[in-house]
Amino acid sequence: MNHEISQKLTRFNQQHILEHLAVMTEAERRAFTDDAVRIDLEQLAALYETYTSSRNSKKEKKVFQEVDVLSFNHTEESLQHKKRLYALGEDCLRDGRVAVFLVAGGQGSRLGFQGPKGCFPITPVKGKSLFQLFAENINALSRRYGTHLHWYIMTSQENHEETCRFFRQNSFFNLPQKTIHCIMQKQIPSLDLEGRLIVSTDKKIFKNPNGHGGSLYALHDSGALQEMARQGIEEIFYFQVDNPLAKIADPLFIGAHVEQQAEMSTKVVKKVDPDERVGIIGRINSRLGCIEYSELSRAETRERGKDGELRFKSANIAIHMLKRNFVEKLTGQQDFNLPYHLAVKDIECLENTKADIKSKKIKGLKFEMFIFDALGFAERSVTLEVPREEEFSPVKNKDGVDSPETARRALINLHTHWLNNSGKLTSIPESFVVEVSPLFALDEEEFAQKFNPPSPLKTPLYVE
Ligand code: UTP
Repeated sequence: MNHEISQKLTRFNQQHILEHLAVMTEAERRAFTDDAVRIDLEQLAALYETYTSSRNSKKEKKVFQEVDVLSFNHTEESLQHKKRLYALGEDCLRDGRVAVFLVAGGQGSRLGFQGPKGCFPITPVKGKSLFQLFAENINALSRRYGTHLHWYIMTSQENHEETCRFFRQNSFFNLPQKTIHCIMQKQIPSLDLEGRLIVSTDKKIFKNPNGHGGSLYALHDSGALQEMARQGIEEIFYFQVDNPLAKIADPLFIGAHVEQQAEMSTKVVKKVDPDERVGIIGRINSRLGCIEYSELSRAETRERGKDGELRFKSANIAIHMLKRNFVEKLTGQQDFNLPYHLAVKDIECLENTKADIKSKKIKGLKFEMFIFDALGFAERSVTLEVPREEEFSPVKNKDGVDSPETARRALINLHTHWLNNSGKLTSIPESFVVEVSPLFALDEEEFAQKFNPPSPLKTPLYVE
């Protein structure tokens, strides 16, 4: 054992991890100590200090304000405005100025699916995976705008190999391979509740992916930003792997963001139930960000404006537009840091039994950065309100709310609505199940133009 490493670990009260070396092979030991040298123990000590001091001190009450949202109604003026923005977004797509960026590095522990969440079968008739669904959307968009949209996918150490394999095995879902770029996010060690490093059951220092906020650094560190600049890409459409309803590279959103010369923009849906546990886009001590549901008081969650709607109604759906320049500007600064948030989670770790290998479950602290904290650095931003039933139904839990079942139901409802509004059918039975391939239609208008109802109409119906 290198004396220097041992001294460094001792200085930060982390020498206990060395006791596990006894159950390691020579190669494991080497990998373990090499890793230990690279860990920023000072940063971890500071993060732990923040945790203990926040636990021991009374939380200062922050001042929250709602934000102005852009939304559209059925007045002529509003419809014209919407049309203009949509056309502007379409121009950006046609000119190849937009890239799609999916963050898929999370652990998906609540869903409990073995493998990357993007491989999870989600569509109601064909059981297409989330990745396939997104790929078909991107393919259809590329066809519509006569371009090849570049698709960046952020993975993490845990799921990178499997994600890449899934794309290879599926022949990249018929997208040109050179337009798909998998970039890996960094990890950060978790700590036990006493602030000590944890050794994982595979005899490594236990780490977790550094949160979706790590995506900004991953874009920088992987060279993706430079590559985008070379390709003339100026805008990045950001979305998360768990929302099968995400309107990828929505021209309206792109147009609204570009028209305002915004640096980072967000899509929101209307919160109607005061008790919904959802983050709200708003101002926190004057700074734009996301107010976590636990931060608002009961009175604040129930406060209503003159229009009768909740004052804090702009529910964050984690869909953003990011100006490439903005991400470059932030990540190019030596001292730019998104804050770390921490969560207490169950962690399976190696029990120190000197010469035996046993595992145990402990409570540990996981540190993560969140993408929405970058909003506070944006000089200009647009918050666009969109209909929840058309754009948001996340797959988070195994069952109950925000589960595969609710997401499939949302997909069926959306496509049933398209069938109904196509004007080509008289009535659709209540229990009808329909799935429309993105390669057939990307939206209600395209669907209405192309759809010819089969006769007889049988459930389940797959429209391709
Ligand atoms: P969640 O906050 O739902 O976390 O991620 P998760 O890890 O996927 O799921 P749980 O909490 O363990 O059940 C929201 C989005 O952010 C991505 C996820 O892949 C998902 O698209 N994400 C999250 C990352 O890409 N990296 C991370 O480190 C965390």
